[in-house]
Formats: sequence, C-alpha cells, structure tokens
Amino acid sequence: MTVPTESTSGPISGSGASVAVTNIGELFTGDLLADTPYGVISDAALVIEGGHVAWTGPRARCPAADTSYDAGGRAVLPGFVDSHSHLVFAGERSGEFAARMAGAAYSAGGIRSTVAATRAASDEQLHARVAGLVGEMIRQGTTTVEIKSGYGLTAHDEQRSLAIARQFTDETTFLGAHVVPDGIAVEDYVELVTGPMLAAAAPYARWIDAFCEVGAFDADQARRVLEAGAAAGLRGRLHANQLGPGPGVQLGVELGLLAVEHCTHLTAADVAALRDSGTIATLLPGVEFSTRQPYPDARGLLDGGVRIALASDCNPGSCFTSSMPLCVALAVREMGMTPAEAVSAATLGGADALGRIDVGALVPGRRADLVILDAPSHSYLAYRPGVPLVASVWRSGRPT
Ligand code: NIG
Ligand code: FE
Repeated sequence: MTVPTESTSGPISGSGASVAVTNIGELFTGDLLADTPYGVISDAALVIEGGHVAWTGPRARCPAADTSYDAGGRAVLPGFVDSHSHLVFAGERSGEFAARMAGAAYSAGGIRSTVAATRAASDEQLHARVAGLVGEMIRQGTTTVEIKSGYGLTAHDEQRSLAIARQFTDETTFLGAHVVPDGIAVEDYVELVTGPMLAAAAPYARWIDAFCEVGAFDADQARRVLEAGAAAGLRGRLHANQLGPGPGVQLGVELGLLAVEHCTHLTAADVAALRDSGTIATLLPGVEFSTRQPYPDARGLLDGGVRIALASDCNPGSCFTSSMPLCVALAVREMGMTPAEAVSAATLGGADALGRIDVGALVPGRRADLVILDAPSHSYLAYRPGVPLVASVWRSGRPT
C-alpha cells in the first residue's frame, strides 16, 4: 500500500467542489440494501460533493470529479457512531479498576466519587477533559458521539455538564438519574430530577436517560424520569440490565425507545420483546472487559432477530476506553459477531440508535464521514487488535 496523496493542493471538498476518493482496496459502504453483503465493494471509488457522499462503485466506473485522492489500496469504512459515552467528569478511578482485577466486583456506588470530583472541577477543567477524550475518539475513527451528563447530580452541575458537552456534539443526554447522591432520599431525588434539574438541563439536551438497576433507580422511578423528559421534549434512552436481570429492557420497549443500552443480562422474554419492537440493543463490550462480567450474547441476539449497536460507554468507572476499534475487536472475539456485523453495529447501528439518517453509512446523501484504514479490509480491526490502523478520518468530506 502506498501513502495516500492528493492530486491537487486545493481544498479537499469545498461547498461546490467534488472529490473522487479512488484506489480504495475495499469500500465498506454499510448499505444493507446493496447487492453485496454490507455493500462491500472491492477496488472501489467514492465521490464526495458538498460534504456528502454523491456516488460509490467500482473504481473503473468512477465519474469525473474536480479533485481526486488516492487511497492507496486501503480499506474505507463509515466513521464510527459512538452512541453511548460519559465524557464530562473529573478525576479517575484506576484504583477501583486494579481492585476489580484483583477480584473485587464492580458496583454502581463508585459513581459517587466521580460526582464529588466533578462538582469540585471548574468549567475549564471539565471542558479540557472532554476535548481530550473527543480528540482521542476522532483519532480512532469516531465521527459522531453521544455524550451524557450524570456526574453532577445537582441542577447547576448537570446543566453545566450538558452545556460543555453541547460544545462538542448535538447528541447530548441528561442523565440526572444516574445514581442517588449522598444526603438525599431517593423519592426526593426523583422529584428533583423530574422538576428543577430537568428544567435546567433540558435546553442543553436532546435525550434523557436513567440507570435502571438495583442500587440505582427501579422501573417505576425510571419511567417517571423518562416520562417527565418526554413532556419536556427529550427522547428517552435507558441503561438497562447491566449488572443483573431486571425490568429495564421491557420498560424501554414499552416506552418505545429507539435503544436500550448494556443488555448484558437478558431473559428469553427480553429478547422476544426487543425482536418484536425493533428497539435496538446497544452493547458495550468495553464494560465487560473492564469489569470482568460475562459479555452480552450478541450472537443470540442477532440470531433472534434483534438489531444491535456497539458503543464505547467511555467513563472513568466501568470502562475507560474511547476506542471503537477495541469494541469491534471484542465484539468479534468475545461475542460471536462477524467483523462485518461488528463494523455495521459500530456505524449504522449507532446511527440508528440515535435516530440519525445522515451518518453511519457511505451511501449517496449521507455525510461523507469516513475512516481510511491502514489495512486492506475492515476485518483487520479484529484481526490486528490493539494496532493503530486508523490512517485518516474525514468528517463531512474533509480530513480532520
Ligand atoms: O454505563 N451504568 C452506569 N453508568 C456507567 C458507569 C459509571 C461509573 O461507574 O462511573 C456505565 O457503565
Ligand atoms: Fe453508560
């Protein structure tokens, strides 16, 4: 493979200029309606116009464009859509991780130590932390990211967490119902989350989420939080069935959510409910890696007709990775997914889980958010785990 070069020194893709990305060894368009599985095209080209995909196909049939870019035989795939992360926090919990690796269990209670550090941090410190982590994500191929609050847990701290997250993405999620902070009864806290805290957070959020789990919020409390959010114009998401079996997945299905997230401990009834509703199961294998819990049964879900998204869950407690390539590798090695299924779940699956029809696949009309791998095929993401294969990341038709 040769190093990619631009054939002109002008802008890669201005508002009017078109760019042909040629000599693509393997183009993973992610188009599920294509003639080939996942719309994979060998020896391919892709044309970008106005920041969007205008054409894909065999290189020999590539239409003329204003400029061209030689991909050097490398693989090109859609940018990753990381639909679940918690990036607004201060401090770290490597001691908790080390204790887990020595046999301790993960517990939701660790969230409170991050809450204390986050409340004590300045806006500038939190902004710098998010900027650093988003930078890491982009360098690893993520082009769309969802960011949750949830480490402030006061109206003021949740609002400023979301205001900071909003500077990096439109996909912001109010997670006041992450855990009950010290010094307040759970019912009083639910009143706060569904009242003044929601009012402060809603202008900065698109989504509302709750951690429906023993030790956090039960189904009735989670339902009240999501219903209050809906009344304030926020769409719901749910942390469900992470630490044990529970009512979260079925609550999410009943509420008609686009996605329920974690889905580590599912019953046959949960799987049937997901299949029948079309609600996406967002799997977060970095969490099981970092907590030594059993991985979710992705193979069983796919074979049972459930749609899957993969996301990082990047946070300082249960999973401190920002790497979607790692999540793809874990999904393949530990969860029975094929490389193509995993890449699809990490791209189109994430877009679907966020209700986005403009990203997640390299098909005409969608944004030209793409990753050029220093490898001949998408399979290398799992075949060469831990190797920095992301050679270049383009957002809206431009290299970042
Ligand atoms: O998605 N489950 C709840 N929230 C995070 C963990 C947060 C933490 O441990 O700090 C998660 O795993
Ligand atoms: Fe999470």
